[in-house]
Amino acid sequence: MAKLQSLFSMRHLLVLSLALNVSLILRIIYDSQLDLFFYKYPHQGQISNLHTHNKPRLLISSSFSNSSSSSTCEDHHQPPPKNNNRVINLDHGDPRVYEAFWRETGEKTTIRIAGWQSMSYFSDVSNVCWFLEPEFAEEVVRLHRVVGNAVTEDRHLVVGTGSSQLFLAALYALSPTHSPQPISVVSASPYYSMRDVEMQSYPSMTDYQKSGLYKWGGDADKFDKSGPYIELVTSPNNPDGCVRRSVLNRSEGLLVHDLAYYWPQYTPISSPSNHDLTLFTLSKTTGHAGMRIGWALVKDKEVAKKMTKFIELNTIGVSKDSQLRAAKVLRAVSDSCELQGGGESFFQFSHKIMSDRWKQLREAVQRSNGFFSVPTFSPSFCTFFNQNLEPHPAFVWLKCERNVEDCESFLRGHNILTRSGTHFGVSQQYVRISMLDTDENFMHFLHRLSTINFR
Ligand SMILES: Cc1ncc(COP(=O)(O)O)c(C=O)c1O
Repeated sequence: MAKLQSLFSMRHLLVLSLALNVSLILRIIYDSQLDLFFYKYPHQGQISNLHTHNKPRLLISSSFSNSSSSSTCEDHHQPPPKNNNRVINLDHGDPRVYEAFWRETGEKTTIRIAGWQSMSYFSDVSNVCWFLEPEFAEEVVRLHRVVGNAVTEDRHLVVGTGSSQLFLAALYALSPTHSPQPISVVSASPYYSMRDVEMQSYPSMTDYQKSGLYKWGGDADKFDKSGPYIELVTSPNNPDGCVRRSVLNRSEGLLVHDLAYYWPQYTPISSPSNHDLTLFTLSKTTGHAGMRIGWALVKDKEVAKKMTKFIELNTIGVSKDSQLRAAKVLRAVSDSCELQGGGESFFQFSHKIMSDRWKQLREAVQRSNGFFSVPTFSPSFCTFFNQNLEPHPAFVWLKCERNVEDCESFLRGHNILTRSGTHFGVSQQYVRISMLDTDENFMHFLHRLSTINFR
């Protein structure tokens, strides 16, 4: 004891106790900051490079009922969420699924715009689309070349505030100017979104201004009027994920192809699309819906001019700031595919996450013992990934199979919000569910499905 006393004087013990107290206080501050962070940003998810090594992360588990099964994730300490009162809204297709990828890119996709920049209305007066930023145009063409999903040669590029604005611009441009009757706009059912005119959908967008130029004509399969018409072809289709072609094929038909989901994470790329008028959107390509950027590839110069005129009359162009930011994001996607330094490309990341989600969903559906069913899709060759792959649509058509007539109400009873099949012209046994929400919401959704008593 005397020996010990000589080793540790009172001064030593005091310093030791001070050090222990300081480290305890620092630990408490650190933990409370992380708690606050997770409270403020609950979706900060699995792949993020945050300093979360001392905290369990929110991760997608491939099976909630069996924590020892294989998984895509690194950490399973987080137990499945217990709160069954929390409402999980999977009605809309808000594309938050890729946030972790974009958080990782950091400065590479951060943009600084000085106060004096982007001030003029004009971008390139020599172009048909005079408000198209050349940098954005260059990145669109490059990305289509990298992915191989669209022919851009001999096409005019028109930028829009989302592809929604371009859809209206296309109707304006394709409608005959001096016809006594508005031209019919049709699409094969199920289309987005058939019955609810209050919702963002082809019918509501076509008719909400009661234009004298065009009018919603309903299901293309049932369209029997003679004369000109505009047919919308969405491929892969929203809501059912099927690959689509024009169904009418008449000589007086004008086609608008909405290829919002023709990207490798959703569907195998079979060949470059080569249509008269094709719409794409950043919302579904990279998940940047809030930037409100879409683009159209247009063969006919006069049609491209009229679309440009529509946007000029409507919003006098498209935000330059958004176009510059979109250019940076698209450049990062192409770079990730072309200059891979051992890292994962955007499409490898997004394809993996969609494929994991579909796998987990199918497992959850299988555990329901026939209570739910989901469509199956045949694999086909993807020229981008150079292999046979299954499609992973952005929405799932879920069917309630047993004694449940109204699947949307049934799921609402379990605090899961979906969109009934009736909005798309099919039975209320079907619902459309978004596969693009945050990791956290998707995880809660799978867990909620697993808590339903199927007896
Ligand atoms: C097929 C389809 N086209 C277009 C859009 C809207 O695109 P944007 O956000 O560019 O207006 C959606 C949105 O869900 C969609 O599903």
